[in-house]
Amino acid sequence: MAGRKECLVLGFLVFLWAALGIEGKEETEEQTCRLLGKFDLNGFVDARNHSLVIGGLFPVHSRTIPANKSILEPVSAKCEGFNFRGFRWMKTMIHTIKGINERKDILPNITLGYQIFDTCFTISKSVEAALVFLTRQEENKPNFRNSTGAFLAGIVGAGGSSLSVTASRILGLYYLPQVGYASTCSVLSDKNQFPSYLRTVASDKFQSDAMVKLIQHFGWVWVGTIAADDDYGKYGVKIFEEKMESANLCIAFSEIIPKVYSCEKMQKAVDAVKNSTARVIVLYVSDIDLSPFVLEIVFHNITDRTWIASEAWITSALIAKPECFPYFGGSIGFAVPKADIPGLKEFLYDVHPGKDPNDVLTIEFWQTAFNCTWPNSSFPYYIDHRMNMTGKDDRLHAMSDKFCTGEENLEDLKNTYLDVSQLRITNNVKQAVYSLAYALDRLSRCEEESGPYFPGNTCAYIPDFEPWQLMYYMKTLKFTTHSGMRIEIDENGDVSGYYDILNWQLDDNGEVAFVKVGEYTFTDSKFELVMKKNATMFWNTESSELPHSVCTDLCRPGTRKGIRHGEPICCFDCIPCADGHVSREPGQRECEQCGEDYWSNAQKNKCVLKEVEFLAYDEALGFTLVILSIFGALVVLAVTIVYVLYRHTPLVSANDRELSFLIQLSLVIMLLSSMLFIGKPHHWSCVARQVTLAMSFSLCLSCILGKTISLFLAYRISKSKTRFISICPLYRKIIVLISVLVEIGICTAYLVLEPPRVFKNMQSQNIKIILECDEGSIEFLCSMFGIDVFLALLCFPTTFVARQLPDNYYEGKCITFGMLVFFIIWISFVPAYLSTKGKFKVAVEIFAILASSYGLLGCIFAPKCFIILLRPKRNTDELVGGRVFTIENSIRLTSASVSSELNNTMVSAVVDD
Ligand code: TRP
Repeated sequence: MAGRKECLVLGFLVFLWAALGIEGKEETEEQTCRLLGKFDLNGFVDARNHSLVIGGLFPVHSRTIPANKSILEPVSAKCEGFNFRGFRWMKTMIHTIKGINERKDILPNITLGYQIFDTCFTISKSVEAALVFLTRQEENKPNFRNSTGAFLAGIVGAGGSSLSVTASRILGLYYLPQVGYASTCSVLSDKNQFPSYLRTVASDKFQSDAMVKLIQHFGWVWVGTIAADDDYGKYGVKIFEEKMESANLCIAFSEIIPKVYSCEKMQKAVDAVKNSTARVIVLYVSDIDLSPFVLEIVFHNITDRTWIASEAWITSALIAKPECFPYFGGSIGFAVPKADIPGLKEFLYDVHPGKDPNDVLTIEFWQTAFNCTWPNSSFPYYIDHRMNMTGKDDRLHAMSDKFCTGEENLEDLKNTYLDVSQLRITNNVKQAVYSLAYALDRLSRCEEESGPYFPGNTCAYIPDFEPWQLMYYMKTLKFTTHSGMRIEIDENGDVSGYYDILNWQLDDNGEVAFVKVGEYTFTDSKFELVMKKNATMFWNTESSELPHSVCTDLCRPGTRKGIRHGEPICCFDCIPCADGHVSREPGQRECEQCGEDYWSNAQKNKCVLKEVEFLAYDEALGFTLVILSIFGALVVLAVTIVYVLYRHTPLVSANDRELSFLIQLSLVIMLLSSMLFIGKPHHWSCVARQVTLAMSFSLCLSCILGKTISLFLAYRISKSKTRFISICPLYRKIIVLISVLVEIGICTAYLVLEPPRVFKNMQSQNIKIILECDEGSIEFLCSMFGIDVFLALLCFPTTFVARQLPDNYYEGKCITFGMLVFFIIWISFVPAYLSTKGKFKVAVEIFAILASSYGLLGCIFAPKCFIILLRPKRNTDELVGGRVFTIENSIRLTSASVSSELNNTMVSAVVDD
């Protein structure tokens, strides 16, 4: 019994274990992870019977259709906006591979297959494609046997830079060679980030440089930029702006065109174009992204702008339509070199949707090209989902309910797909395929033991090689294309070469023509922009003249640039140059100072010689003064003649005749010396003027002193009767002699030690050089005239006291009056002299000289001459002499006869108490 029981328990356990085991197995199978979302890629594949496959990525559509938000499952987006140009590029790759397979000289025993995907110009599709290349369509394990099962050698693509960047980040992990044909973004040269990326198109580094050189060539300084919202636009504009800055040119505005249509963002870019004063605008945008912006520009009717085109849209049929010409005509830009591809045209024409019902791209091509719907097609004719998104009216496309017959004629089609006149990027596609083929060819020709790989100089073999082994050959690739162009890929995976500079013009058929007007060459050492000499340019300006794009016009000569704070250097104010400064050329930053002898003219654009100022003979003032001085001298001469003629009359002979003559002589010198102050100062005239003046003063004043001392003594006699006073005429002459000698001594010392010299006075007036005499030593000058002042000071009190001498003639009074005049003139001279400048200073001095001379002449000699000539009766001894009565007797004592020289005896007054 016990045995049966045990058997039952064991049997149950076995069942349980078995049951559990089965359950567990089922559970593990169910728990395996699988991708829910499926990739949805369109393209062309031909991998069967080929040992090697080349991948390709092309923008056959322009965008993806936004996902329906109600579906939660992740689904790969569908694409829309058929791009004929991308389709042509894609077909070119197939054509090239077919060509290589037919050739016996490259890869003789190996045929190449292809697997090409449409990226729809979106990053997400590029990622899908990159993963499909590396994995299998629904597997996330890389196996280098791609979905076709063939060995993947490398990839050609992708079109836009952002797509290449994303694909390369994935493909680069495996070091899988990727050859770009259109992605020009400069970051792709960075081999740390993109180790396996190479390209047959030049980096934008050169294009940005070329744009700046073009801008400089046409003299524009104020340029706006518009970039696509991707790596291409942003990096391109970044380098462009850096180069503009180092060329001292300015960016008026920098705007971005949104990738996904946004009314607000688009409006911002359009407003910037509309409101800016910049007439020249750089557009760093791929043609696909540019189309909506072009429509906006047309919609807002913005003309009179010159657009600088990047290589991505300069020859694009999407933009270069006759209806856009009024807005975009005259655009100037850079295009990659063009070449003819033999046999391509025929290959492109060999397209028909009837050949393969699964060839969805060809069906869509046919539908879009002929505006019809292919029967039984799962693809509806072109719908633009953006309409719903933006709420804008359907300005782009319309639906068609017409069915395609298949009989449509491609020859009737005017379509960019079939246009082989501008094979530029298309040619790059061909070269990209060829570079992979040439590298494979070299790899296949590797000879054992002389191979490149270490250790052991081994070779790699098709199809069993590692991607890095092919990269080895790619990195040092050099070949000549079918059109004779040399392609050399450098260590950054870049190529050098040239750009064609194209200008949009209208041809005779009313179509947009891309006219070559120059070339920009860039090699290792040469970066050169050459414009064709005889090329006619079309400019989209009102006058059809070269547009003018500046923030502020160049400052005229005579002004300089003044910085406006917070604004670019191209916007400035024009500030007139300061006095004495000029700017000769237009647009000068600074005004230059004129040389010492020069001053700025009224316009401030030229330095002119400063006016030299001095009191000239031929000007009214100088002339008047000369006349006055000569007239004065003549008057003195007349007085002398009268004195000589009447020398024996009592009036003349009274009170020292010689002194009178000396006074007359000194007055003549004084009057004539004033002429030394007039005219251009020379060394001799500077030396002579002060000395002559001082000497004549001292002579004059010492003579007057001699005279007045006699009067003073006479007066003293008249007052005190007790003294014996005697004054000999000789003493008077000695006084004169001593004072003149002292003056001569001082003058000689002055002239020897520190003589006056001609001096150009530039300080007192900016616009004039005042030619004047620098008096040298002020000490000597003061002592020289100090003597004169001293003499004058001595004269004055003596005459003042003697003025009371009673006589008929009152010579004392006259001299007193003369001295008063003299003092008044010279005292008032000081402030007048100090407050004038230039030639008027000299004039004031001459006035003082003349006035004081006339004063003395008038006061001392005029009354005497009056009596001599007009009242001869009064010129008798009796009348000339007055009487001084003393207590006991009277003596004949008059001012005029104090020193009568009739008997040439000393006048002596003996007065006894
Ligand atoms: N140069 C562009 C980039 O780097 C790509 C490009 C060139 C392009 N030509 C084009 C894209 C024409 C679309 C259409 O992104």
